[in-house]
Amino acid sequence: MAATPCLGVAYYPEQWPRERWEIDAELMAQAGLRLVRVGEFAWARLEPRPGEFELDWLEEAIDVIAARELEVIVGTPTAAPPAWLVERHPEILPVRADGRVQQFGHRRHYCPNVPSMRDATEGIVAALADRFGDDERVVAWQIDNELSGRCYCGICRVAFHAWLRERYGSVGALNDAWGTIFWSQVYEDWSQIPLPEGSPVPAEGFLRNSPNPGLALDFRRFSSESLIGFLRLQAGILRGRCAPRQRITHNLMGFHFPEIDYRALAEELDIVSWDNYPVLDLTRRWSTKALAADAMRGLKNAPVWVLEQQVGPLGWELLRTPRRGETRLYTFQAIAHGAEAVCYFRWRTARFGTEQYWHGVLDANGRVGRRYEEVCAVAAELESQRERLAGARPHADVALLHDYDSRFALQVQPTNPVLAYEETVQKHYESLRRLGLGIDVVSPQAVLSAYRVVVAPELFVIDDAIAGALAAYVESGGTLVLAPRTGVKDRWNAVPERPAPAWLDELAGLEVVDYMSLAEDTAARITGVDGVSFIGEVHGWYEEVELHGGRATAVYADGAFAGSPAVVEHTVGAGRCVYLCGAASVPTLQAFYRLLCGELGLTLLDLPDGVEAVRLDANGDDLLFLLNHGDVESAVDLGERTVTLEPLGVALVEALSPAGSGRG
Ligand code: GLA
Ligand code: ZN
Repeated sequence: MAATPCLGVAYYPEQWPRERWEIDAELMAQAGLRLVRVGEFAWARLEPRPGEFELDWLEEAIDVIAARELEVIVGTPTAAPPAWLVERHPEILPVRADGRVQQFGHRRHYCPNVPSMRDATEGIVAALADRFGDDERVVAWQIDNELSGRCYCGICRVAFHAWLRERYGSVGALNDAWGTIFWSQVYEDWSQIPLPEGSPVPAEGFLRNSPNPGLALDFRRFSSESLIGFLRLQAGILRGRCAPRQRITHNLMGFHFPEIDYRALAEELDIVSWDNYPVLDLTRRWSTKALAADAMRGLKNAPVWVLEQQVGPLGWELLRTPRRGETRLYTFQAIAHGAEAVCYFRWRTARFGTEQYWHGVLDANGRVGRRYEEVCAVAAELESQRERLAGARPHADVALLHDYDSRFALQVQPTNPVLAYEETVQKHYESLRRLGLGIDVVSPQAVLSAYRVVVAPELFVIDDAIAGALAAYVESGGTLVLAPRTGVKDRWNAVPERPAPAWLDELAGLEVVDYMSLAEDTAARITGVDGVSFIGEVHGWYEEVELHGGRATAVYADGAFAGSPAVVEHTVGAGRCVYLCGAASVPTLQAFYRLLCGELGLTLLDLPDGVEAVRLDANGDDLLFLLNHGDVESAVDLGERTVTLEPLGVALVEALSPAGSGRG
């Protein structure tokens, strides 16, 4: 596939009469699309009866599509197991946390650990791979669709026990790690271990079920690994039978999806893909989509594909319509953040089924209209920028650490709403982005040495290895920012016998000795000291620290810890560690990062509200994408010139020269 960005679409030929395929392919080609995804969800048509494969129609569809020089992605259809499979093997149906069996009639109605589901999966995936694994027109495989769900069936329970045995070796070691002596939860045998939410107390019951934190974290890891294992099963079959140039991918669900460790999942893929439905974000913050894009790129630190991008009004029962211009805006936003392909979902609005109102490029009646014209215009515009964008990569001075263990552990015990993991990461992300800084969202295991600043917003679960890597980063000249609730838990979700931030206390030059957990809107003001001009606010959660080598650069002006340190800096080796003691709002974080990054000499921008700026390194050129997410015209001051953006406007300009560094 082309290394410059291109556009594509999801197509379901099995949902339309054969004679329509030519018209559709012709319209796609005329629009300037280059990629078409097919096959996803078509299991009942590809294998109408057990072991009887009917793949000719799909090959014919590929013939029709490829005749217009469109490239094809084949989806494996396993997200929609057919009725015959469920009838023969009802055990594939997943069990919900409340013990109810999910019935046939929607999709994703399978447990990834059930042997009969895995056998049937091997059959259909192998058949597809044998047929299309050498087909020049097929450039990639998408495995399943948006993997998700936790299953509580008996087979999962037994598999969980085996998983625990592998991890702990003996029941005694597990008892120690989880601290099962608490409330007499000591196990004698693996088989006694429950699934954490398998038998919740009914609504009218008198005690809610709040599981052992070690058990709850391990079950989240196990469930995540179960889905990844199911993907690995398919990837293994494809790798064994397909030409290596056909890339293996899966469509992930962006940053906010909470169930799967996407970093581990990405290791099974050749390229990360994701699905982007911007108007589903009711907050309408541009940072939501930007963060999703950067988090997906960060999984492999490589370009991604957007395999589904909203193109029209959408919803299953209730609809939301994007504004005119949003298709263009979100397409270029994805490309700015590192997408090599953006495929619209879907080609034609369905006539039947749950997604009758999930509007495609064409209407259900098959006619072209406003959305088709918008797509044509975006494709033409992209074509005109092709050379400029070839090989361009987002520039990043900052690494923002995204840690799944911390995220999972905070799901178990959220502690205070202001500490919600996703929102905390997003607040730091947005504050940095509003200054025009480029960010890679990466795991704590990533190589950090190239970044000027590393931000670890809520590294709740930690161990000495990660702490050691962060210390080495600081010693060799890096700037590390830590925030409240760092180093609170060990890998078993137990509280370490060390002061917080555990394993990082020496690096931070402090110990947390007390904290306040208050209503979300309870604020304490903070002010700079020692000549640091800074004022801000923290909300809901703030910590009292004792200094051990660190130096306060701001103190609480009021609240329970008035007069004590609120921001602490500690110089270590050639770098420094900065600890924020309270949960800060975006304006406070923005002011904080403006000071810090200004001191480091990073190029900062003064961006109007609603305008996003993404810097690209483009083969020696320094480009800047400006994206106006607002409904009003906006002028961006780039020092030497001003760029005016219409509402929802996009501009690709030469970036600010380094002379403008550190402004503001
Ligand atoms: C997801 C799926 C698609 C489609 C859309 C709309 O992103 O991947 O198959 O169902 O949602 O619901
Ligand atoms: Zn199961």
